[in-house]
Amino acid sequence: MTSPTLPGHPHVHYRNQTLYIEDQQLSDLAREHGTPLYVYSQAAMLQALQAYQRGFAGRKVQICYAMKANSSLGVLQFFAQHGCGFDIVSGGELQRVVAAGGDPSKVIFSGVGKTRAEMRQALEAGIGCFNVESEPELEVLSEVAQSMGLRAPVSIRVNPNVDAKTHPYISTGLKGNKFGIAHERTVATYQRAAQLPGLRVVGIDCHIGSQITDETPYLDAMDRMLDLVQAIEAAGIAIHHIDFGGGLGIDYNGDTPPEADALWAKLLARLDARGYGDRQLMIEPGRSLVGNAGVCLTEVLYVKPGEQKNFCIVDAAMNDLPRPAMYQAYHAIVPLQEPAADRVPQVYDVVGPICESGDWLGRDRSLAVAAGDLLAVLSAGAYCSSMGSTYNTRPRPAELLIDGTATHLIRARESVSDIFRSERLVPLPKKG
Ligand code: LLP
Repeated sequence: MTSPTLPGHPHVHYRNQTLYIEDQQLSDLAREHGTPLYVYSQAAMLQALQAYQRGFAGRKVQICYAMKANSSLGVLQFFAQHGCGFDIVSGGELQRVVAAGGDPSKVIFSGVGKTRAEMRQALEAGIGCFNVESEPELEVLSEVAQSMGLRAPVSIRVNPNVDAKTHPYISTGLKGNKFGIAHERTVATYQRAAQLPGLRVVGIDCHIGSQITDETPYLDAMDRMLDLVQAIEAAGIAIHHIDFGGGLGIDYNGDTPPEADALWAKLLARLDARGYGDRQLMIEPGRSLVGNAGVCLTEVLYVKPGEQKNFCIVDAAMNDLPRPAMYQAYHAIVPLQEPAADRVPQVYDVVGPICESGDWLGRDRSLAVAAGDLLAVLSAGAYCSSMGSTYNTRPRPAELLIDGTATHLIRARESVSDIFRSERLVPLPKKG
């Protein structure tokens, strides 16, 4: 018997053995819109955002949604309407913010490889801050801004050298990572930034990793950041805002990350104790705002028994849900209709149709399934659609945003001709 509400998913639950998101029956949505299909709960996004807003009540804070987690316009529009700014990492993401009605002055631009063209685009749009990640980037940004008669607002991303204790690919705050400026170089880099004519120093920032489930790395990073603020200000450079990045984890498989409000109560107490409680603060959460708001629906195509393994072959694949293939990540997989008691569960690897052994969505899962059944892959709101591809010429799925009984199609299913629209055949040599 499956529990009525699914762990980590406050708005996904079984009613009469049938899986619902908010007040919508998921199998109805799959029938109407086809599979694979991403479905997001607006109530779950709001609940996640409100946990942060509660945590920061009475403080000066700008929550900048890290849109790489899910950059669909309908999702961005929701966060813009609820007062969020955005953490972006490309000119393309900036265009999405503008298209979704976001406010460019609440945008911060992170990333180690900003091009001159992206810098110009962001300066023209009037973004709030560039989070600069290297000394050469400072020089180039100053040059670009000066050529436009502007001064670019900058904060420097410092690498606090704390271990976020997460998957190596998503840990970013250690010395060996490509991100940020080394702790020891920070004051000298700020001094250089303060001299450059095209820059205006406004803040400091860090981001130590993603899917962090423990509060200790955050507390350590905060201490190191505040030590740096003290040292930079002692050198005569004012720091107007402190940006603590994102990274808070979600429950994929019994994970127990702190709630955003509880985490921030502790962090803010530390900030107060050190006398920085009245500063302008920024955060850049991604996954924790959307990850458990979404599911990906998929249909079982074939059940294939094998000598060593049984395979449950579904119509979603690593192009739609890349996290298992990339990080050996776990996503729970549950049926949309709880199976009849006489169906005996078997252990399956749940795999997609792509021609790669890495195309798996779940390993060794106990499921009572038959061809034609519908399944939900959970925790699919973050880093699934946004990291998706069209590998094997598989069109991107449709995306729905659910608000109670209302369903909004926020992305139509892609067509194959959409995929190769910009491709061209080579002209054939003229005959004769
Ligand atoms: N700020 C910066 C500068 C970042 O690099 C990231 C994520 C975030 C904020 C948001 O982190 P979040 O709150 O979502 O943890 N594709 C991987 C995750 C990559 C995260 C990259 N940076 C995954 O699927 O697990």
